[in-house]
Amino acid sequence: MPSVISINDISIDKINKILENASKYKIDIKNNCTLPSDRKTNDSLKSFNIGILFFEPSTRTMMSFQTAINRCNGHFIQYYEDYSSVKKGESFHDTIKTFEQYCDLLIIRHPDYNIFNTISEYTNVPLINAGDGSTEHPSQALLDLFTIKDHHKDILKSILFVGDLKHSRTVNSLIKLLRKTYSELQYYFLSPELLRYDDNSLRNFKIVSSYDDCVRDVDVIYMTRVQYERFTNINKTKSYWETEINKITMTPQVMKKMKPNSILMHPLPRNEELSILCDNDPRSKYFQQMENGVYVRMALLNYCLNDLKI
Ligand code: NCD
Repeated sequence: MPSVISINDISIDKINKILENASKYKIDIKNNCTLPSDRKTNDSLKSFNIGILFFEPSTRTMMSFQTAINRCNGHFIQYYEDYSSVKKGESFHDTIKTFEQYCDLLIIRHPDYNIFNTISEYTNVPLINAGDGSTEHPSQALLDLFTIKDHHKDILKSILFVGDLKHSRTVNSLIKLLRKTYSELQYYFLSPELLRYDDNSLRNFKIVSSYDDCVRDVDVIYMTRVQYERFTNINKTKSYWETEINKITMTPQVMKKMKPNSILMHPLPRNEELSILCDNDPRSKYFQQMENGVYVRMALLNYCLNDLKI
């Protein structure tokens, strides 16, 4: 059974099939029911017990994985640090070995970027990376692509990434996925200078210094918050960051300049970089991303455990 640690672990054919299955789930759950009690579930994960181990905070990723498992009638058990033997000095290794005895797949979030190399050395159960440090967050990238395709179908010419592009694992995984999917895509980056995207294998990108440089042209704007918890050697004052964030804050005034069919995305959580005044603009898709996360994770779990049969 396959693991998904990086977006590069899945072939483009399988990615397309995962997104296709996610669409079927969306139609089943959303469109084919008039009452909440009609909401369809299926038995595709009925025989599986899934371990959820988050060593970092989460709202959407954890809840949407849980909801995805529930909608497929699967089971999950969850790691809670405060109630675990870690409090009695148990090691990370022994915690993983314990979950391995009970579970058919582990969904893990952890602050260390190389944690999956370590885990893979001592466990054979399939793993899903729910975010490892600044490295990757493949299930988020899949739901982001699903949301983009939902809106733009297969035609996408340009995307602007805004915010902390140095530490954002969602940006890293999404760019990997976009590179597999769209060969001609033009990338724009708007970020504080200390937080620039730094993978120099990307070719067709432009660093811009304000929204005005490209906001009228781009098909998608993808924002992220500043990830202070991942800073290592950056020592700047609070007021420095306030000024920097002010320069990239998304407001209804900026949205007025976007094309009518372009969309605004954010993996959330947001801080000051995205004003709540943008929420009611129909081009704001961040709540849609959250909902799509459930359908995509239903399909992803079925890719890992059922070879995509849903
Ligand atoms: C992101 C994450 O955890 O990487 N959130 C998410 O999973 N939806 C983004 C972030 O923390 O800024």
